[in-house]
Amino acid sequence: MTALDDALAATRYQSYVYAYPHKTAYRPIEPGEPLGPLWAGERRDALFAYFHIPFCEHRCGFCNLFTRPVPPEELVAAYLAALGRQTTVVRRALDEGGAFQLARAAIGGGTPTLLSAAQLEQLFGLVRALGVPAGIPMSVETSPETALPDRLAVVVGGGADRISMGIQSFLETECRAVNRPQQPGEVHRALRAIRDAGVATLNVDLMYGLPGQTAETWRTTLASALEYKPEEVYLYPLYVRPLTTLGKKGAAAVDSHRVELYDQGRAMLLEAGYRQVSLRMFRRGASASGPVYCCQDDGMVGLGCGARSYTRGLHYSTEWAVGARGVRDIIDRWVQRDEAAFAVADYGIRLDASEQRRRWLILSLLSDEGLDVAAYRAKFGAPVDADFPELAELAPRGLAKQRGDILALTHAGLARADAIGPWLYSADVRTRMAEYELA
Ligand SMILES: C[S@@+](CC[C@H](N)C(=O)[O-])C[C@H]1O[C@@H](n2cnc3c(N)ncnc32)[C@H](O)[C@@H]1O
Ligand code: SF4
Repeated sequence: MTALDDALAATRYQSYVYAYPHKTAYRPIEPGEPLGPLWAGERRDALFAYFHIPFCEHRCGFCNLFTRPVPPEELVAAYLAALGRQTTVVRRALDEGGAFQLARAAIGGGTPTLLSAAQLEQLFGLVRALGVPAGIPMSVETSPETALPDRLAVVVGGGADRISMGIQSFLETECRAVNRPQQPGEVHRALRAIRDAGVATLNVDLMYGLPGQTAETWRTTLASALEYKPEEVYLYPLYVRPLTTLGKKGAAAVDSHRVELYDQGRAMLLEAGYRQVSLRMFRRGASASGPVYCCQDDGMVGLGCGARSYTRGLHYSTEWAVGARGVRDIIDRWVQRDEAAFAVADYGIRLDASEQRRRWLILSLLSDEGLDVAAYRAKFGAPVDADFPELAELAPRGLAKQRGDILALTHAGLARADAIGPWLYSADVRTRMAEYELA
């Protein structure tokens, strides 16, 4: 048995790898690194701008994102003021290195549409102030209760061509079981409002493996979502994380339940004309590629408390927490920051040459396009199988297949992407993550 066999035998649900290294591998950076010189050395012609709004109407029992439920009005105002200061500082830092081009943008959270229409106007003013040009792909996250026509009008008027809404389930009982108070009538109203707002790409997030969910209720949820012909559907396997409400209650997600519902959901979406892009993502027909952050090359400029930024040699963010007290304290300190505090990266992880190669490998292999071995060699000057001989374990197990220069996961591999990704983490990143969990 190899480490891969062990990983797959334990569970195929280890961790959702949407970035590498994981944020629990971040630590204080002392002294802080000034942003101007940091960004000056980057490839600057296709940057990704991300704005994080860490507020929600409630804290869902499964969610470990960086967000604070029901923020007081004064805090939201203070947050937007601080975001304004940060935007000025980051724009100045980018300008220091000469010309730059933002090619994609996203506003996420939390729930950005928890902001009022007037506050959203203010936010889009900052998006433009950073240098986001009109007409580039831009995605905004919303939730059923906050997808209101006046807010959606600002979002679409501000240039968003993709709106992504968390639904999870169309059954009130299933939502209640994971502390998400949500009425199906409200979800239908929100979906109609998003369609009426005229956005090009609607994405919906659905979850499987919820307590009490059956093949029958899962079919109902999928069919209800498909009535609105979303261009994209994300199917999330339920993860129960230790610091979440579900985790503290001792709830557990069952592997066999998730596997059965995954197979069912996948079959239903393929039947309805969707193409599987990753373990979670399905896209309808030939719809244009949305601004999904999956490129292993581009720099990401993150603004807001909880946002991450990726340069080649350094990934940084604000500190991170899930528990209510920790999140509140971090946001309260963040809104007090002055311009000087925003001008340095002081929490994150450095990526040496070997971690940069590993990151490129992991994100490529888990992406739609697969790993281009010729591109790897051209970029890093060595064959990928010399740097990562363990990759040879995938094909004999039916998890990946090489066609020409592309090594791509098979359907069996995609279904196990949440075990294959973590299997490729470096020993150092694993150690840091384990230390964080013990702290
Ligand atoms: C930022 S939220 C979506 C927008 C909005 N806040 C909402 O909930 O409607 C991101 C998505 O991640 C998924 N997610 C979060 N935590 C999860 C977990 N523990 N297990 C599975 N999926 C999870 C949910 O499907 C959720 O919709
Ligand atoms: S799932 Fe969405 S609404 Fe629920 S706590 Fe997380 S970010 Fe907020």
